[in-house]
Amino acid sequence: MPVKLVVVAGARPNFMKVAPLLAALSHAPEFQAVLVHTGQHYDYAMSGSFFTDLGLPDPDHHLEAGSGSHAQQTGEILKRLEPVLIAEQPAGMIVVGDVNSTVAGALAASKLGIQVIHAEAGLRSFDRTMPEEINRMATDAITDLYLVTEESGRLNLLREGVSPGKIHMVGNLMIDSLRRHLDRALASDIRQRLIPEEKYGLVTLHRPANVDVKEQLAEILSALNEIALEMPLYWPVHPRTRARLNSSGLQCSPAIHLLDPQGYLDFLSLEAQSSVVLTDSGGVQEETTALGVPCLTIRENTERPVTIDQGTNLLAGTSRTSILAAWRQLKAEPKCGVVPALWDGQAGVRCVEALRRHFADAIASATVTA
Ligand code: UD1
Ligand code: UDP
Repeated sequence: MPVKLVVVAGARPNFMKVAPLLAALSHAPEFQAVLVHTGQHYDYAMSGSFFTDLGLPDPDHHLEAGSGSHAQQTGEILKRLEPVLIAEQPAGMIVVGDVNSTVAGALAASKLGIQVIHAEAGLRSFDRTMPEEINRMATDAITDLYLVTEESGRLNLLREGVSPGKIHMVGNLMIDSLRRHLDRALASDIRQRLIPEEKYGLVTLHRPANVDVKEQLAEILSALNEIALEMPLYWPVHPRTRARLNSSGLQCSPAIHLLDPQGYLDFLSLEAQSSVVLTDSGGVQEETTALGVPCLTIRENTERPVTIDQGTNLLAGTSRTSILAAWRQLKAEPKCGVVPALWDGQAGVRCVEALRRHFADAIASATVTA
């Protein structure tokens, strides 16, 4: 009998992280993966399209938890996940990233005595006003095996008292997906269809701190409107942000082209060919570093400092003045950057190696029983 592992995904950035993990697990006969979709994201453009683009298997369980306040959404996932775990009786639960589905998955499993494995563990923005920072800290407090993307994650965990033997530097699962699908993405005709200009910038924004307060959104838009005078901007708009833009009545320059959220291959294609990316996304900071595309992060901090120390990322702050200053700095001195260690497309394989060591006893006794 293989050792059963439940893998949880629920929101857009989870899908490109679980895809390479599931692919690597499918080559490891000692494990059986069970995929649970929490339903945190549910629109085709925020969920279903990624199953198609990434070739993900259909989930074994779909919880359909949907949207709500933090407590409602997290509580709904917890309530719906517990019976699935009781029925499946897995040895381990793998959660990825820092969304509400991550912390709910970890908590439901931990309370049932199921080993918790956190991929992308240890990242810290040190900003507790970010819901994701609470999710990261709470998840890591109850994790049994920490799979880490960058050195800062390892150091943060050691500082928090995690034993070194539980921490494995595996590299970056999201970059596995990028490496696997980049050629297909570049074969997409999206650029030819949408973008006549030779150079363009790509925008994504969805952090509550940036888009939920009208004055803050206006501040960022004012900087983007100014940048768009020099370079056209293409902006696939996240549903949270679309709702805020619609209700605020704020105006975008005609050189800012608002798009629907894009599928993974089309977005990756636009990202790889852009001259600059302006974003508050965690994953996009990493992808631009892997692609060597300059990135202005519209935030005051990042939990992914390697993208700044080694990659193409520049923290632009969130005021009109700081964003425009960063834009001028980037134009004067574009950052080249290097790709961080182990962001090489093999993170999924390294995760499975770490899982083999962690579950060595369970694998051995399963072999004896069989
Ligand atoms: C969530 C994550 C965030 C991650 C982001 C990725 C948390 C706390 N936040 O933020 O870390 O960066 O996903 O995209 O987990 N909506 C739709 N259709 C959907 C999904 C959402 O219209 O398919 C709308 C709903 O009005 C919903 C809102 O978007 O209330 C926000 O969705 P939610 O999942 O709560 O948070 P995100 O902002 O997407
Ligand atoms: N992405 C996408 N379509 C879009 C915007 C982003 O496929 O319109 C991808 C992007 O390539 C990356 C992931 O979504 O792989 C990042 O997710 P998001 O920005 O929603 O979340 P975060 O990383 O900030 O948690």
